[in-house]
Amino acid sequence: MTKIAPSMLSCDFSRLGEELARVERSGADWAHLDVMDGMFVPNLTFGAPVIKCARHWTKLPFDVHLMIEDPARYIDDFAKAGADWITVHTEASGSTDEAIKKILDNGLKAGATLNPGTPVTDLDPYLDKLDQVLIMTVNAGFGGQKFHEECLPKIEYIRKWADEHNPKLEITVDGGINRETGKMCVDAGATCLVAGSSLFKLEDMTDEIALWKTYGPNAE
Ligand code: DX5
Ligand code: ZN
Repeated sequence: MTKIAPSMLSCDFSRLGEELARVERSGADWAHLDVMDGMFVPNLTFGAPVIKCARHWTKLPFDVHLMIEDPARYIDDFAKAGADWITVHTEASGSTDEAIKKILDNGLKAGATLNPGTPVTDLDPYLDKLDQVLIMTVNAGFGGQKFHEECLPKIEYIRKWADEHNPKLEITVDGGINRETGKMCVDAGATCLVAGSSLFKLEDMTDEIALWKTYGPNAE
């Protein structure tokens, strides 16, 4: 079954805890938390203290997507705050190797990601250390953008590598995911879908999540 990770970027932040509880009740697998520093991306969101406060509202794994420069500096903070998965951008300043090592040393699951304009082969040096590859299908920074269809071959590339070397690798897609684009990504080999605006615009996301979960090799 395809995993579904609602992006809390589109939730009502004044009620973050309740929104997390609602996402869990709706059948989601993970909660995706978008951390932005106003440097790596032009937008600012929240950091480890907010994640720490939110932690007790849900048992869902926290999938923390770091859109920040030199992410290695903050890995210990996010680990202490309750992150389960942490993903870093290969384009960020600082050493991606060091950031991945810190994630793993904290006993967490490590992910790496890149923006649509970055070649997928930039992930090659890290693949054998990763638990998750996140394929961005919009430029990191804002919710509600249009899906970049030209990123689908990147999913296929990682799927092929995973089939040969690590079938348990999570291949997650983030950006412009809805009922149609989500299906395209799963058909290309994705195992997990992140979605913000298309899920949070619904009064109740339960049925939509249930539908997306049926996508995949065993679908009718
Ligand atoms: C974008 C974030 C995404 C974002 C997705 O920088 O990484 O997680 O919330 O939002 P939608 O689903 O609206 O494209
Ligand atoms: Zn994200």
